Amino acid sequence: MSKVAHASIALQGALRQVSAEIDQRFDTLLAVPDDPRQGLYRAMRHATIGGGKRLRPLLVFATARLFGVDRDCTALVATALECIHVYSLIHDDLPAMDDDDLRRGKPTVHKAFDEATAILAGDCLHALAFEILSDESAHPDPFVRVELISALAHASGPSGMAGGQMMDLEAEKSSFDLPTVTRLQAMKTGALISCAVECGAILGRLPIEGRTGLRGYARDLGLAFQIADDILDAEGDEALAGKKLRKDGAAGKETFLSLLGLDRAREQARLLVEQAQAHLHAYGPEADLLRDIARFTLERDR
Ligand code: IPE
Ligand code: IPE
Ligand code: MG
Ligand code: MG
Ligand code: MG
Repeated sequence: MSKVAHASIALQGALRQVSAEIDQRFDTLLAVPDDPRQGLYRAMRHATIGGGKRLRPLLVFATARLFGVDRDCTALVATALECIHVYSLIHDDLPAMDDDDLRRGKPTVHKAFDEATAILAGDCLHALAFEILSDESAHPDPFVRVELISALAHASGPSGMAGGQMMDLEAEKSSFDLPTVTRLQAMKTGALISCAVECGAILGRLPIEGRTGLRGYARDLGLAFQIADDILDAEGDEALAGKKLRKDGAAGKETFLSLLGLDRAREQARLLVEQAQAHLHAYGPEADLLRDIARFTLERDR
């Protein structure tokens, strides 16, 4: 049985609810037009609907609910985060990058369609994220919208995900030390995870000086999440993961695993999860979902 099924009852319920909500948002946003862009929309629907753990949307929901944020605003912001994540996966799978055929248990976009369509589908989801955030329905206050846009732009660009992806390509050719791999992973994976939590805090109008605990939580969670991804790559089950595994070692890529070995990497991830949970000490049971998400990061099998 999948370990996702072993997540706490509350987390299982939240994952189900958020997944259904995000599927429904993409279904509405990406209605296929009756014109020559049909293939593009079908490709975006293929990548966005019916798959993935929806971790980043869930983090937006779990953080926003600490502050009683409107559910519709939260759902739109969560969808914007998932747009960037899915675009990053489409491009990550391209032949010029990881050259993968399987994603979320389905053929990758360039396999199901073609490379040009995959590039454009990624481009469109990238733009769509910011279109969603700049619309009044994401938040009535334009200052809040600009803060959301700025946070997501920073997390996606050269100082965040895309910059981390560039370092990740270099990690196949150079021997990086632990601080460099930590920085790479914090950018490649951590930035978007942190941004999901930050967006919840922005929607909740939490002042910057009040965000230290949540930022610490998100930073440690992001690192633990990528260590778990590396461990899954080494010893996971492809059928459960829904993507090709044993790739990092074969590519000679420097990861936490190549530097620390399996046992120390696992121990490091466990410590990071404990640390992430400790950062939430100022919050009561209302933050239990965030605590459960941290534990799930390690226990997951996909
Ligand atoms: C995979 O992310 C890519 C990384 C950043 C490690 P996820 O493991 O969150 O992928 P999905 O969304 O569940 O497919
Ligand atoms: C990709 O990292 C992270 C992104 C920013 C997309 P990986 O290449 O390790 O992700 P998987 O293992 O293909 O999901
Ligand atoms: Mg990659
Ligand atoms: Mg990859
Ligand atoms: Mg990986």
